[in-house]
Amino acid sequence: MTAATPAQAQPRGTVYLVGAGPGDPELLTLKAHRLLRCCDALVHDSLVPKALLDLVPEHCERHFVGKRRGHHSVPQPSTNAILVELASRHRTVVRLKGGDPFLFGRGAEEAAHLAARGVPVEVVPGVTAGIAAPAYVGIPVTHRRAGSSVTFVTGHEEIDKGRPGVDWRGLARSSGGLVIYMGLHNLRHICQELAAGGLDSKTPAAVIQQGTVVGQRLLVSCLEELADKVEIERFTSPAIIVVGDVVGLRVPACCPDPADVEMPIPF
Ligand SMILES: C[S@@+](CC[C@H](N)C(=O)[O-])C[C@H]1O[C@@H](n2cnc3c(N)ncnc32)[C@H](O)[C@@H]1O
Repeated sequence: MTAATPAQAQPRGTVYLVGAGPGDPELLTLKAHRLLRCCDALVHDSLVPKALLDLVPEHCERHFVGKRRGHHSVPQPSTNAILVELASRHRTVVRLKGGDPFLFGRGAEEAAHLAARGVPVEVVPGVTAGIAAPAYVGIPVTHRRAGSSVTFVTGHEEIDKGRPGVDWRGLARSSGGLVIYMGLHNLRHICQELAAGGLDSKTPAAVIQQGTVVGQRLLVSCLEELADKVEIERFTSPAIIVVGDVVGLRVPACCPDPADVEMPIPF
């Protein structure tokens, strides 16, 4: 029998796929807070404020594996391998991801990779940016007066390479609101496709940049003017785009103050 390599060694610990929330540290769940306070190893993404990274104990081994548009600083297979290796040496490994780990966060891919290698893995859901960023500017993502559904959709079609792209014209025919992640880069195309699918060009739309943290910005417009206004006002990532009548049902009076923490900006 050959000796086990470190990656094949019996797992010592559990990997927790933890949602960091959208940025405001007070939106971290109690479970995520407890795990960060006691973890032995931390593997984190770009959209995680420093305030959360500071919660981990001094002895904690840290790895940054953030992905940014256009390139991956650490390729996904290497991230998977790092997690398996860390679990062979540490009891509590936290894989911290912005928002919720299973919403456009590749959390399920990492969970499947770990489970297939016998590494105990547990998901800790987080508050997703697609709900929190609109909420911080008073936009509800559903409303009885604005349809009975909400669609969370990626505007970053490269992510879905090898699969059919998003059917924007089909989405235009759904009666509920759209919450678009990673959509700024393709915004003009998205708006054109939604209009071509029959969505009224006067449909209210909003962009929330840096939701829940310092630097939070809101732009409210309508479908036909959104892309121009985003360019003129120089909105940048990270941003959530909301399209639908829910934007018109905004309640500015309910907005919390954004947290006084900075979030790294993906480039
Ligand atoms: C790779 S996705 C990860 C989403 C994350 N798993 C979640 O549940 O929020 C990254 C995108 O989420 C959105 N995003 C994340 N944090 C944000 C924030 N604080 N404000 C606005 N958009 C944010 C942006 O669209 C960004 O490009």
